[in-house]
Amino acid sequence: MPLSADPILPPPSPDAAAHSGRLAEHIAETIAAESDWIPFSRYMELALYAPGLGYYTAGARKFGVEGDFITAPEISPMFARCFALQAVQVTDVVGGDILELGPGSGVFAADLYSELKALGKAPQRYLLLEVSPDLRERQRELLAKRLPDDIARFEWIDALPDRIRGFVIGNEVLDVVPFDIVHRDREGVRERGVIVTEAGFAWDDQPLPEGELKRRAAAVIPPGDYDYLTEINLAAEALVRTLASSMEAGLAIFIDYGFAEHEYYHAQRSMGTMRCHYRHRFHGDPFFMPGLQDITAHIDFTAMSRAAEQGGAEVLGYTTQAYFLISCGLAVLVSSGDPTATLSKLKATSAVHRLISPSEMGELFKVLGFGKGIDQPILGFQSARHLPL
Ligand SMILES: C[S@@+](CC[C@H](N)C(=O)[O-])C[C@H]1O[C@@H](n2cnc3c(N)ncnc32)[C@H](O)[C@@H]1O
Repeated sequence: MPLSADPILPPPSPDAAAHSGRLAEHIAETIAAESDWIPFSRYMELALYAPGLGYYTAGARKFGVEGDFITAPEISPMFARCFALQAVQVTDVVGGDILELGPGSGVFAADLYSELKALGKAPQRYLLLEVSPDLRERQRELLAKRLPDDIARFEWIDALPDRIRGFVIGNEVLDVVPFDIVHRDREGVRERGVIVTEAGFAWDDQPLPEGELKRRAAAVIPPGDYDYLTEINLAAEALVRTLASSMEAGLAIFIDYGFAEHEYYHAQRSMGTMRCHYRHRFHGDPFFMPGLQDITAHIDFTAMSRAAEQGGAEVLGYTTQAYFLISCGLAVLVSSGDPTATLSKLKATSAVHRLISPSEMGELFKVLGFGKGIDQPILGFQSARHLPL
């Protein structure tokens, strides 16, 4: 996801600005109704997912060149083709379905399914868990266009199934699950929330109530008396834990930008990792044009792996995106095909370079795998460097 950190953000169209105004009003009303203060996770939930208004739930174009960011499946179909090989290894052993969390534009599902079909391994069911009604419609349109004879095999679901068997995948999903922010300053460690002032939304820190967030903040914030601010994503952990406990047999893979706990909660990262994405620029102001920009934070992969284990799954690997794709056979996929198609091959190679280059997505993006009932080395982690968790 190559982006520029540009403080000068292009102005939205009048329609888009009006839409953002309606969402801001809705958030302000919610804050007034909820004791004039809401935790940041509540603000993020409204900004991204308020029905009909949020960034993901309204109709803004998000993915690709005309949107706000580009994800790996949008860069190259090779990404999904690698995961198809991984899926085959798993479903050959345990059977079952493909389950994709947060399918975005639907392009990954289309590419993954097409590759599985080409390998003679098309799944009976491809489940798509998508919280956005607008994106569901776009996914359905794309899949009906690309795979008209197979569309009946795609099934949209509202919540995780009670029992999961097969291959589960979520690319850049955990980073958009609403997270909390904790802040240490001279007053101690408090929770960051949002209030309404005459100038608009503003930060406000409140004492942390007794509970998991307070316990976690005490455990992860490095000792010291300097200002320190960080995100903690208990909701993403709950999603991983529920998925792991519902899994009968199979492999779940999550890809996202992030680090293990010892790097994440480092003294040098004292300003947190929140990033807002707007028209291929990133910045740190979640109050800018709510509804027109994505809000994300890096993933604490140690916390996610612990959640998977709490759900009874075994962590089967943790490595960089580059290592994982290469371990799945990316180089072979790139060099196969028509040797005379030089131009298309060059284009494909340059896209693949973006997926694996350390200066682009290759190292910042990590792959975490956990599962049950698989006793052979997982293809993508087989020859990959295992990172400490
Ligand atoms: C940044 S996009 C990534 C889309 C796609 N996976 C890709 O790589 O292009 C995040 C996606 O996750 C969806 N999403 C957010 N929260 C979710 C949740 N709790 N369960 C399932 N999908 C979710 C969003 O609506 C969107 O489709």
